[in-house]
Amino acid sequence: MESPYDVLGIDADADEDDVVRAYRERVKEAHPDHGGSLAEFKRVRRAYEHISAGRDPSTFESDATGDGVGGRSGDGREGGRGRGNGRADAANESDEDEGAEDEETLGPTVEYLDYEVAQARGWELTDEDLFEKAEAADLPVDSHGILVVEERETLLEAAERYGFAWPYACRGGACANCAVAVVEGEVEMPVSTVLTDEMKERGVRLSCIGEPVTDDLKVVFNIEHLPGLAELRLPAEQFESARADD
Ligand code: FES
Repeated sequence: MESPYDVLGIDADADEDDVVRAYRERVKEAHPDHGGSLAEFKRVRRAYEHISAGRDPSTFESDATGDGVGGRSGDGREGGRGRGNGRADAANESDEDEGAEDEETLGPTVEYLDYEVAQARGWELTDEDLFEKAEAADLPVDSHGILVVEERETLLEAAERYGFAWPYACRGGACANCAVAVVEGEVEMPVSTVLTDEMKERGVRLSCIGEPVTDDLKVVFNIEHLPGLAELRLPAEQFESARADD
């Protein structure tokens, strides 16, 4: 029987960091848009959740159905996605099983890039080939990669579910510490009292309250030091849960 560690390509005595690192890599490879398939994507995800939950590896069912991306998440959210998306075709092409599983779809897929890394390489937010350059540079997964956002999940929550430490402070739309630039796709915010209309027109969104409303997005995070945003930042130490190094 295949163990969840086999699925992630790591030894059974791998520590937590190794598990997270392997998951980030494997989930990128397994994504339908990156040469994988929906079935493989879900298998990788099940393996990660199985290990993270501390379950007995011998009880892992690599081909289980009904607990896929649209199912229960690690934080207890339920249900299929409310947002329509266009991934049913990919699911139908890649899933061997017919029936209910074919109806499942991935949530919005976000290709992300760390602005500090882009800056260090002389890349600009306005570069049309920004993400192509990031892909070609083979950056580490905490700097560039893809993640899938679940139902009722904000961008920041999704990033944290993957183990990333994107910047934030208030988590309530009151500062700009969590700002991201949406280069492609759309992220809606229920309310924002800090971003100007001009910033929003430039694609700036607050990841702590922003939820994707399109299937595919390209997002640059870590932009909080951009002119106009820096002065909206709050000292992270004001917030108990803020990043210690922010
Ligand atoms: S963390 Fe303050 S607005 Fe998002």
